[in-house]
Amino acid sequence: MADLKSSFLKVYSILKSELLHDPAFEFSNDSRQWVERMVDYNVPGGKLNRGMSVIESYRLLKDGQELHDDEIFLASALGWCIEWLQAHFLVSDDIMDNSHTRRGQPCWFRVPKVGLIAANDGLLLRNHIHRIFKNHFRGKPYYVDLLHLFNEVEFQTVSGQMIDLITTLEGEKDLSKYTLSLHRSIVQYKTTYYSFYLPVACALLMLGENLDNHINVKNILVEMGTFFQVQDDYLDCFGAPETIGKIGTDIEDFKCSWLVVKALELSNEEQKKVLNENYGKPDLANVSKVKALYNELNLQGVFAEYESNSYEKLVASIEAHPSKAVQAALKSFLAKIYKRQK
Ligand code: IPE
Ligand code: MN
Ligand code: MN
Repeated sequence: MADLKSSFLKVYSILKSELLHDPAFEFSNDSRQWVERMVDYNVPGGKLNRGMSVIESYRLLKDGQELHDDEIFLASALGWCIEWLQAHFLVSDDIMDNSHTRRGQPCWFRVPKVGLIAANDGLLLRNHIHRIFKNHFRGKPYYVDLLHLFNEVEFQTVSGQMIDLITTLEGEKDLSKYTLSLHRSIVQYKTTYYSFYLPVACALLMLGENLDNHINVKNILVEMGTFFQVQDDYLDCFGAPETIGKIGTDIEDFKCSWLVVKALELSNEEQKKVLNENYGKPDLANVSKVKALYNELNLQGVFAEYESNSYEKLVASIEAHPSKAVQAALKSFLAKIYKRQK
């Protein structure tokens, strides 16, 4: 495991060094230093689940055969493209969500002298992906499909981010619009495609598969990603900031979080009044009242039940898939997130 991670990180160093010497741009020492610091700050510091899943999925989809070095390199490079995409989304997500910390350090836009330069840095991170594609995938038979896949997933993600954000405007007028089906569509688009479908789809493309023949796999991964985002919503309030590396802002931000949807479902009139008066306000006093209500409604217990039920359902839908190799790839992904604390 530690070995896998260190070989994955070696590929990061290679890709980064190519980007810092991209012949399409004449770097000065200052600009090269800025990009290096920005990339090191935002790309490699997460759990790396998404990126490393490309290699693991590829290996399992090949029935666990030993991989050649060049296959490991390419699967790692695609894994890093997903980590770069994630970094690109998170830099702007933290600005829009007005967050404070990420991965145990200040959000990039809060670093002194960075500020709104972070908006352009986010765009640069997105462009790096296409430089990596050009350097390593241009001659591959799946090159066009790969571009199409990243374009579509990126479109779905930013559309999900858009509904996540404009929903808070509606919520301010009327919290009763926050339903499980609204929550589902936000999460489906903002999280599941890039975090769950994309790693497995990259592995399938490397294997020469046509993605149109794997709609069933995509549907299962969307379910798995939904489960993952419900955990994210739960940890936003109940997780330990030292462990999750970020301080939750969903209550202050009026987010259509799984917790507020459940709270609205379970509240009596008086409790609804507490929500209406305190949800979406920046003051700690308001946030504390919402958290106290969540405890009164035993949302930790409601979540624990959701987590085990949806785990059972996911396992059943994975086991209904005809291919044992696909089952193994999906189960390995699920094992990484079930009962996660971060
Ligand atoms: C982030 O969603 C989704 C993307 C970055 C596309 P959230 O805003 O819910 O995630 P965290 O809690 O800040 O990581
Ligand atoms: Mn956020
Ligand atoms: Mn967000």
